[in-house]
Amino acid sequence: MKNLRPVGILGVGHYAPEKILTNKDLEKMVNTTDEWITERTGIKERHIAAPGENTSDMAVAAARRALEHAGVKPEEIDLIVMCTLSGDYPFPATGCLVQDKLGAVNAGAFDLAAGCSGFIYGLSVASQMVATGSMNKVLVIGAEILSRVINWEDRNTCVLFADGAGAAVIGPVEEGYGFYSYTLGSDGSGGEAIIARAGGTRTPVTEEILKEKLHLAQMDGTEVFKFASRIMPEAINTVLAKSGLQADDIDIYIPHQANVRIIQSGAKRLKQPLEKFFINVQKYGNTSAGSVPIALSEAWDEGRIKKGDNVLLVGFGTGLTWAACALKWNK
Ligand code: UT7
Repeated sequence: MKNLRPVGILGVGHYAPEKILTNKDLEKMVNTTDEWITERTGIKERHIAAPGENTSDMAVAAARRALEHAGVKPEEIDLIVMCTLSGDYPFPATGCLVQDKLGAVNAGAFDLAAGCSGFIYGLSVASQMVATGSMNKVLVIGAEILSRVINWEDRNTCVLFADGAGAAVIGPVEEGYGFYSYTLGSDGSGGEAIIARAGGTRTPVTEEILKEKLHLAQMDGTEVFKFASRIMPEAINTVLAKSGLQADDIDIYIPHQANVRIIQSGAKRLKQPLEKFFINVQKYGNTSAGSVPIALSEAWDEGRIKKGDNVLLVGFGTGLTWAACALKWNK
């Protein structure tokens, strides 16, 4: 396409609720141990939203930090892409609640449901909008309160998922910087692997459904583990090829934080040192669409990313979906 301009990330920010739930706390709630959770997942603790704290509130907190980092005012935002599967309501879109709370008076807003790949899907939408000149500044947010959609009696899931939000401001950048390319994928035939069976129009919530907790998340951990271990390096290789890069050219990988073993196996398959993979799953658990932007923002805060670095983001999750993108950092 002609006349496309370079697009990059102008600012990042994240937010996690104050309350921390440790593996030791979970030992008192379900039949599990700190040792099992640590060995099988790498998770030590996670954040849990306070009563009355909503997905839109956390999204706004992360977005404010990203706007501040970018030096952009809410009224300069043209579009809000709100990536979540645990929005405040089935409708209206949480993106619209965020638009109002932020005072982003000139922004369109919508929700994007691509699970743990959501934030990268959101970045891909934002990038095209800015690259074509159709828009100037787009806010992409990933935020979840998974603690309210999991079954706290199911040890297969309740030790994994948690709450958090991350955001990025996308805009034009100087020539030679910004996004190289994207890859997005989906396989709906695997949709049963991570699913909330009720609460949609297929199976509306009834007393019976509530009793059986069918409106809450269920996961076939083994199936998802196999899928994730295969797809993460595959998605990385696809986006590297599309970007004209080699695995060695990447300075930092920001993977979805689901399980440290999935990240370790990905690093091994790509023959990359694990140190190049940013890992914070030990502190946050799996925050789905919040995971990649929280990791990106924390990597920035820790000084792990500098101008000119090649950064690669990769996600995978419910849908099934996967996504990856690579960029040359411009800040
Ligand atoms: O963000 C979306 C992507 N999600 C993921 O990527 C998650 C992918 N899956 C995983 O990370 C892993 O499959 C799990 C962490 C969920 C499970 O680890 P695993 O090594 O695959 O364990 P497993 O499912 O093979 O289960 C081993 C045993 C089972 O007991 P039996 O049947 O062998 O007696 C489970 O019942 O561990 C048991 N178990 C637990 N034990 C203590 C399952 N959950 C727990 C628990 N505490 N919380």
